[in-house]
Amino acid sequence: MAQREQWGSRTGFVLAAVGSAIGLGNIWRFPYTAAENGGGAFFIPYLFALITAGIPILILEFGIGHKLRGSAPLSLAKINRKYEWLGWWQVLVCFFIAVYYVVIIAWAISFVGFSFTQAWGDAPSDFFFGEFLALSDSPFDLGGFRTGILIPLLLAWGVTFTALYSGVKGGIEKANKILMPVLFIMTVLMAIRGVTLPGAAEGLNYMFQPDFSRILDYKIWTAAYGQIFFSLSIAFAIMIAYSSYLPKKSDIVNNAFMTAFINCGFSLLAAFAVFGVVGHMALKQGAPVAEVAGGGGVGMAFITFPAAISTLGSMAPLFGVLFFLSLTFAGLSSLISINEAAIAAFMDKFSMPRKKAVLIYTAVAGTCSLVFATGAGLYILDIVDHFINSFGIVFSGLLEVILIGWLFNLKTIQDHVNPISELKVGAWWPIMVKIVTPIVLGYMAIMNLVGDIKEPYGGYPADALFWMGWFVMIIVIVGGVLLSTLKWKDEQSVSKEVE
Ligand code: PHE
Repeated sequence: MAQREQWGSRTGFVLAAVGSAIGLGNIWRFPYTAAENGGGAFFIPYLFALITAGIPILILEFGIGHKLRGSAPLSLAKINRKYEWLGWWQVLVCFFIAVYYVVIIAWAISFVGFSFTQAWGDAPSDFFFGEFLALSDSPFDLGGFRTGILIPLLLAWGVTFTALYSGVKGGIEKANKILMPVLFIMTVLMAIRGVTLPGAAEGLNYMFQPDFSRILDYKIWTAAYGQIFFSLSIAFAIMIAYSSYLPKKSDIVNNAFMTAFINCGFSLLAAFAVFGVVGHMALKQGAPVAEVAGGGGVGMAFITFPAAISTLGSMAPLFGVLFFLSLTFAGLSSLISINEAAIAAFMDKFSMPRKKAVLIYTAVAGTCSLVFATGAGLYILDIVDHFINSFGIVFSGLLEVILIGWLFNLKTIQDHVNPISELKVGAWWPIMVKIVTPIVLGYMAIMNLVGDIKEPYGGYPADALFWMGWFVMIIVIVGGVLLSTLKWKDEQSVSKEVE
C-alpha cells in the first residue's frame, strides 16, 4: 500500500478545514437563521450548540481521522467492521449534496457576470426564476437544459476536478491557500462598506435585536444545532477524511478550536455585510427591513441581494462582483471537501490510485448534477436539500455519536489526542459526545420526522417528494449498507491500526 498523502503544513490543513466549513451556509444561511430565530437571542442556543456539539464532534472527527488514518468508511471499519456502513451513508449524503451544491456555485458564477450591468434590472425575482432559470411548472417537467447554467457548471467542476486530481498537498491545499485569503479580504471589504452605509444600523438591528421571548421555543434550538452541523461540515465524513492526511505530530484540539472559531467569526462578518446592505436598501425604498429582507437561502442570494446591490449606485458593480465571487469561492472550497470525502473512501476501499478515483467519481457526479441545470432544477434542488438537511445530517450525526460514543470506548480517542495537543480534552468532552448531543439530535430527528409526515414539505406533489426526497434517503441507506458489504481490495489496510 502506498504511503497515505499528507498536508504540506499545519496552516494548509486548517485552511482546508476552514474552507470546508465556510461555505454557502455562512453567507446565506447564517444571517437569516439568526434573524428568524430570535435575533440576538439566537446566539445563546448557537453558542450552546457550538460548545456542546460543534467543537466536541470536530475534536472527535479530527481524532478519529488522525488516529485511524482513513476515510470515514475505513476509519469506522477499523473501529469495528460492523460500523462501516455509517461511513458510506455519510459518503452518499456527500454525493447528493455535491450534485446540487455545484449548481448553486454555477449560478453564483453567472451572477458575477450579471453584476457588471445589474442584468436583473428592476425585477430580480422575475429575472431569476424566468429569464435565468426558466423555471418549469413542476418538478417532473424538466423543460430542457439551460446553456447559461451549463457553462458555469462546467467551470465549477473544472476547478474542483483540477484541485482533487492534483492531490492533497498539490491540489486541495493549494486551492484553499488561494481561495480562503481572497475570500476573507473580499468579505472584510463588504462588511466595512456594509456597516458604514446609511441605513445599515436598521438592518443590523433587525438581525441582532434579541427576542428573548422565543428562547424556550424548541425551534430556535434545533435551528442552532442544524446550523452548527451544516456549517462545520461535521457528520459528513469530510473532517475525518481531511484529518487522515495530518502528519503524526499534529495538535488536534487546537486545530478543532481554530476551525470552529474562524468559521463562526466568518459567519458574523458575513452577517454584517449582508444586513448592512439590506438595511440600506430598506432606507432607500422607505420600507421596514422586515418587509424587504425576504427569507434566507436561494431567494436571499439571487433575489434580495441583487435588489439591494442595485441600490448602491456607482458602487453596485463592484459590490455585486465581490458578493457573488465570495459565494463562488466559499462554495468551491466546500465543494472540493465534499467530493474529497467520497473520493478518499473509494481510494481506500478499492485501493484505487487518486487520479483514477477522481476521474470516475467526477464523471458520475458531474453527469448527475446535470439534472439541476434543467428548468426543474430549483424544485429538485429544494426537495433534495430539505431531505438531506432534515434527515441526512441529523440521523448520521446521531448514529455517529451513538456508535462511537456508546459502543466504542471514547477514552481511546481521548488518550490519542491529549498527548499531542496543547489544550487537553477533559471530562466534559465525553459528556457532550455521549449525552448532550445525542439527546438534542434524537429530539430533532423525531420532530423532523413527525413534521414531514404531518405536513409534506413545500407543497410539492407527493410523487415528487417520494422520488426526490424519501427515495434519495432510501438510496443512501441501502447503498451505504451494500457498499459496506463489498470486499476490501486490500484486506490488511482495515486491520492495520496505524501505519
Ligand atoms: N459547511 C459548508 C457550508 O456551510 C458546506 C458544506 C455543507 C459542506 C454540507 C459539507 C456539507 O456551506
